[in-house]
Amino acid sequence: MAFPRRPSAALRYLLVAILLAVTFYALLGPTNLAPNDGLVIARPWGGYEAEQVFVHRGDYHQHQPKHPIDDLIKTAEQEFADKLAKETYTLSDAAAAYRRRRGRHPPPGFEEWHAFAQEKNAVVVEEFWDQIYHDLEPFWAIKPAVIRAGANKLDMHIEIRDGEATTGSDWFWTQIWLDMIKTIEHMLPDMVLALNAMDEPRLVVPWEDIDRYMKEASKKRKIVDVADVVTRFPRLPKPGETPSDDEAEMPETVWERDKHYWKIVRRGCPPTSDARVAPIITNFNRTPDITGPFALDHMRNGYVSNYTLSTTFCHQADLQALEGIFVEPLSVSATKSLLPLFGGSKLAVNNDILLPAPMYWSEEERFTGAEGAATPWFAKYTAAIWRGVATGGLNRPDNWRSFQRHRFVAMHNTTQLASPETKLNFIPPDKRYDLPPPDDLARWTSETTSVAFTNMMCAFKDTEPWCNYTSPYFETAPGMPMAEQFAFKFLPDIDGNSFSGRYLGFLRSTSLPIKATLWREWHDSRLVAWKHFVPMDSRFGDWFGLLEYFVGNGDTKPARDHVAERIATAGKQWAARVLRKEDMQVYVLRLLLEYARVASDDREVLGWVGDLK
Ligand SMILES: *[C@@H]1O[C@H](CO)[C@@H](O)[C@H](O)[C@H]1NC(C)=O
Ligand SMILES: *[C@@H]1O[C@H](CO)[C@@H](O)[C@H](O)[C@H]1NC(C)=O
Ligand SMILES: *[C@@H]1O[C@H](CO)[C@@H](O)[C@H](O)[C@H]1NC(C)=O
Repeated sequence: MAFPRRPSAALRYLLVAILLAVTFYALLGPTNLAPNDGLVIARPWGGYEAEQVFVHRGDYHQHQPKHPIDDLIKTAEQEFADKLAKETYTLSDAAAAYRRRRGRHPPPGFEEWHAFAQEKNAVVVEEFWDQIYHDLEPFWAIKPAVIRAGANKLDMHIEIRDGEATTGSDWFWTQIWLDMIKTIEHMLPDMVLALNAMDEPRLVVPWEDIDRYMKEASKKRKIVDVADVVTRFPRLPKPGETPSDDEAEMPETVWERDKHYWKIVRRGCPPTSDARVAPIITNFNRTPDITGPFALDHMRNGYVSNYTLSTTFCHQADLQALEGIFVEPLSVSATKSLLPLFGGSKLAVNNDILLPAPMYWSEEERFTGAEGAATPWFAKYTAAIWRGVATGGLNRPDNWRSFQRHRFVAMHNTTQLASPETKLNFIPPDKRYDLPPPDDLARWTSETTSVAFTNMMCAFKDTEPWCNYTSPYFETAPGMPMAEQFAFKFLPDIDGNSFSGRYLGFLRSTSLPIKATLWREWHDSRLVAWKHFVPMDSRFGDWFGLLEYFVGNGDTKPARDHVAERIATAGKQWAARVLRKEDMQVYVLRLLLEYARVASDDREVLGWVGDLK
């Protein structure tokens, strides 16, 4: 497929822009729908009024109808500016910001942490560490000895004693995490970290329990009198030295193995949420249903307006049959107990404690594609590229239609798009919008995208990359190194079995990441959607609309190449500023100081008050 390399398209007058929200499912089992219903194009999220606004570019003005994405970008710029305005430069300002945001004194070691952050030239905005407090806060309701016993009980550990980190595990993730922690070990108090070796997160504490823990934790949140503060971490009791009465209180940990993960994970949602009240779907051998009103809360005029909310699923019960993780993950081992288990990513309701994912620290070329990042924007193909394996979970003949990557790739089948047999179904039916006729949509899609699986990841392993139940619907393409993918301007990022490990590479790539995800990572609070990357709904109904906003279509839909370039550049520059390995070190040092404190018997009086004396 050849893509024209285009310079920035000049802005032109345009007619009323038509927002495309297209979701294509060519994935029909013979029993599910008549062949003619092969394509479902849904536009479920309401329209927008075109407005005339002035756009300034160079020294001339042009009339340009307002697109809803313009507003989202503007809001993001403001949000980011507000965040940056909170940057602190001195230890005492950082400590004051800490107390304001956390309601406690900083932990012992804060002064060293701050000196380290400064030495590493880190941007210090207290919000950047919000994830740590989100993850650790419920543990303030658990007795410290129980937290420590919980860590000891889990099976893979890194132990820190007398400023030295060690592990008995040779699992490669543990080795990478050990390598990371060893760079800061001299600043760490004694502790035992339990690590999750699986792709999937492990803890789903029921919402009701977390709610109770959070209430208890908030009672313990106070600024203690300076005179009462203990400023040194205690020595960590050796396993066995822990008071046995506390051990006895520890509930037994039950590990659940039900592969239908939705049934487990929804208990992390509030009792009245969609996820808790919606009927549980058990038939996944069906056309994906994206017709519900579920995305309304996080979308405005068809596009993601609240990215954080878009990555939670409690208000999106339809996702139970649209994402592999809910349908059938590769492995499930889940518990209701709140245990201190560290891992690289999790869903919004999981209670695992986030560390930077191992591949971010090890910077494997497979995930970073560092070489390709040198290609300047103007020299890239004006098109979207996606290559990947049909992961998402364990796909089978009767469930693969409900997997996100299969859904996404199927949307790009131009034969299906062009077919006169294909029906375009607009939902709800009272809201019909102009779409390009099928052959124009197909032409535009083939000119602007290259999306294919490289391996069908079959349930019958001996046939890969081919697969007798999915290959009839998908042509595979050869793999393409990440560095070559970076010769394309647009990089949709679709979750696999868990979070997409390429994301950091995408951000650094000089191309534009367009991200749909349900996964949380250590860095989430330092990135702003629409400022550093483009967010996409997990149904992908906004995908073609997003791409059209940037690349345009014919004379009536102008390209906004410079807008795409601006976001891509901002993401790259910001990643080089706050997502460096140094920033991971600063994050992990802060995290482990907090973890050591919450697991210490005298945690309520432990603190750093050097600035108040
Ligand atoms: C996004 O949604 C969350 C959860 O409902 C809410 O707390 C937050 O204020 C929303 N953010 C914006 C910018 O609307
Ligand atoms: C696919 O191959 C497997 C294993 O060889 C076989 O059991 C199954 O019936 C085949 N399915 C189809 C749809 O051909
Ligand atoms: C498009 O879909 C048809 C029928 O489902 C399939 O035969 C064809 O291989 C698909 N094309 C691509 C490029 O995947």
